[in-house]
Amino acid sequence: MRQGRVPIGMLASGRGSNVQAILDAAAENGFPGDVAVVLSDREDAPALDRARRAGVDAIHVDPLRKGARLAPTAEERILAELERRRVHLLALAGFMRILSPRFLDAFPGPVLNIHPSLLPAFPGLHAQRRALDHGVKIAGCTVHHVDRGIDTGPIIAQAAVPVIEGDDEATLAKRILAKEHAIYPEAIRAVLSASVADTRREGSIDE
Ligand code: GAR
Repeated sequence: MRQGRVPIGMLASGRGSNVQAILDAAAENGFPGDVAVVLSDREDAPALDRARRAGVDAIHVDPLRKGARLAPTAEERILAELERRRVHLLALAGFMRILSPRFLDAFPGPVLNIHPSLLPAFPGLHAQRRALDHGVKIAGCTVHHVDRGIDTGPIIAQAAVPVIEGDDEATLAKRILAKEHAIYPEAIRAVLSASVADTRREGSIDE
C-alpha cells in the first residue's frame, strides 16, 4: 500500500482479467487507490494468481455452501479480512455469488460491480448470449453500485460496442471485455475522487 492511496478490496470467482486491469491501473502514478486484497470463493481462481504475482494478498474463502449465496460465516470472514486492511472500496469482478443485505449493510464503503451488458438490459447470467438472442445491435458493459437487487444499483459508467454480423457469444464477449478493462479502473478513480472530495467538504481531511 502506497501512502495516501485508498485501500481497495476485490472479489472474483474466475479468470480475473478485470482484477488485472485494476492492478495495472493501480501500478500507475496518480491512481487514487491500491489493491490491498483479492478474495475468491474458488481456490483455483486465476484471479488469485494474478494478485499473488502483483504482490497483493490473495485469499480463498470457502463459501461453505453451494448456489448463489455465501454462508454467513464466509461473509463474516470476508468482512474481517477487508476490515483488517481498512478497505474503503470493494470491487466485484466476475464474482459469481450474491452478497447478502447483511454484508452490504456491514461494509462501510462503496461496493461496485462490473456487468457485461448495458444495464438495465440483461441483468443476471449469460448477458452476452441473451443480448445476441434478442438481436441487439449495440451491446456493452456497465459499472454500477451494488444494492440489494441483482445488477440493479445506480449506474456509474457504461461503454457500448457494436454487434457485428457473424458474432457469437465468444467474439461479442471479447469485444465487451476490452471495454470493461477501460471503464472499471476509470469508474473506481471517479468514485474514489468523489468520496475524497466529500470527506474534504465535511472537514475530516486536512489539505
Ligand atoms: C466479465 O465479463 C464480467 O463482466 C462478468 O464476468 C466476466 C469476468 O471476467 N461478470 C458477470 O457476469 C457478473 N454478473 P474476468 O474474470 O476476466 O474479469
